[in-house]
Amino acid sequence: MCDAPKSADLLAWYDRHARELPWRVGPADRAAGVVPDPYAVWLSEIMLQQTTVAAVRDYFTRFMTLWPTVEALADADDDRVMGEWAGLGYYARARNLLKCARVVAQMGAFPRTRAALEELPGIGPYTSAAIAAIAYDLPETVVDGNVERVMSRVFQIETPLPDAKPEMKQRAASLTPDARPGDYAQAVMDLGATICTPKSPACGICPWNRHCQARAAGVQATLPARAPKTPKPTRYGVAYLARRTDGLWLVERRPEKGLLGGMFGWPGADWGDTATEAPPIPANWRDPKVEVRHTFTHFHLRLSLRVASVPVDAAPNKGTFRAIRPSDLPTVMRKAFDVATATLPD
Ligand code: ADE
Repeated sequence: MCDAPKSADLLAWYDRHARELPWRVGPADRAAGVVPDPYAVWLSEIMLQQTTVAAVRDYFTRFMTLWPTVEALADADDDRVMGEWAGLGYYARARNLLKCARVVAQMGAFPRTRAALEELPGIGPYTSAAIAAIAYDLPETVVDGNVERVMSRVFQIETPLPDAKPEMKQRAASLTPDARPGDYAQAVMDLGATICTPKSPACGICPWNRHCQARAAGVQATLPARAPKTPKPTRYGVAYLARRTDGLWLVERRPEKGLLGGMFGWPGADWGDTATEAPPIPANWRDPKVEVRHTFTHFHLRLSLRVASVPVDAAPNKGTFRAIRPSDLPTVMRKAFDVATATLPD
């Protein structure tokens, strides 16, 4: 059996191959004494939860331009922040982002230990470890999906996820060095993202290839093992899109708690096993006969649409008429908007 991989080998690889990311202080700058901004580290890590690096890049840069400090974000208008977040999904993150910014602004700075970071809204074990390691260079172990995959292969962990999580975490902790733990945390993530990839890992150029038990056994592409997935159910709904003759659209704010919480959306009954009709106002509702499909984490949605042109004095019994910037809408609502605008006269 091969011996455990060495953090120094991975760090040497990272020194040459670290990805350039807008929130990252690269290894050369870090060695020259550049210190990461905890605000930028925090913001990027919240955005990166459940979202890819490619999707996050532009959002991160835009947020840093609009709100360059945690104080600036704390002072921001809630709707503006939610609007800028639209498209990133998991909207509870954006609400917690604002809550956290306000607490930190009150405190005067981000706390400097993992335990204190974890007290903040929206910061769990992953994010607290990531900020402590990356921003403060503390030897905390950061475990995300990339790290789990790397550990499952290097140590040939055959137990399926999620049961394997504790072992993966313990293995990851066993490798975390006291020297350059911040660079090391990012190096494992980069290794998982660029070499130790899910489908065809590039073992030939991996700095840990001679220490990888799964590779030695030829099973690297089958790990991590996963318990069989239960198929996602399909839910059905009807969304009502009313445009007033002055160009404003009828929207309602969704409840704070739950899916798309706090975001603007089109009125309609809750999504369920069947589509329920629930027009928010009397109008000549037309059916454009185009179904919008969208997949959420736990279900597929099929959304029928009803579209109406209504007079300026149309009285909503729920929701408000607003000017819509499509980019401010969550993706599923924007898809519905795109269909509706295509069917209405200019
Ligand atoms: N994924 C999540 N956080 C990351 C980071 N700091 N660097 C690279 N990939 C990441």
